[in-house]
Amino acid sequence: MHSIFSRINNISAFLSSCTMALLACVALSSFLFTADPKGTLSISPVKVFPSKTNRYPRRIQEMGFVNFNISADLTPLFHWNTKQLFLYLEAEYQNAQGVNNTVVIWDRIVRRPEDAVINFVGKNKYAFREISSSFKKVPSSYYSLKYNVMPHVGVLTYGEAARTIEPVDFVWEEHV
Ligand SMILES: *[C@@H]1O[C@H](CO)[C@@H](O)[C@H](O)[C@H]1NC(C)=O
Ligand SMILES: *[C@@H]1O[C@H](CO)[C@@H](O)[C@H](O)[C@H]1NC(C)=O
Repeated sequence: MHSIFSRINNISAFLSSCTMALLACVALSSFLFTADPKGTLSISPVKVFPSKTNRYPRRIQEMGFVNFNISADLTPLFHWNTKQLFLYLEAEYQNAQGVNNTVVIWDRIVRRPEDAVINFVGKNKYAFREISSSFKKVPSSYYSLKYNVMPHVGVLTYGEAARTIEPVDFVWEEHV
């Protein structure tokens, strides 16, 4: 009595191996797409303002205001296994201790290829601060526009769509 149960069992094992194999193919197919779109990124000198922190009211924490202009066509990153893109602007600088820091100052999720042509002029969405509370000993900063491609199946891939070549200076302002 090779019962109906064992037959169903065999069929479902077969189907699930097929599904696994198909998913593996979809995941692997992502490696065939090697689009590496490049855009442009320009940054104005970063204005630095003193600000009070909530946690330590007597301590002055400097805040950087970054005005930027991004132009990039990221449509080549959309293919049949692209679920969405996570796009972010990262500030990079070396602090007085010689440690390289990176801070994400802006991001955007792009869900549709129609929205993947980015022409955006704006300023940082997230606070740009130095842990030592001042940028005084930081000579300059660099910026890069990076992305993660989130697939339907498989692993995240990372890339860089633009980068500033020239260092961007800090400019201190007295009042907000
Ligand atoms: C932003 O950059 C693009 C490409 O470099 C340029 O065409 C555009 O005029 C710039 N926009 C502003 C407001 O500076
Ligand atoms: C920090 O970045 C600079 C420029 O990219 C590099 O030359 C230096 O080796 C880095 N320092 C550390 C500690 O990683």
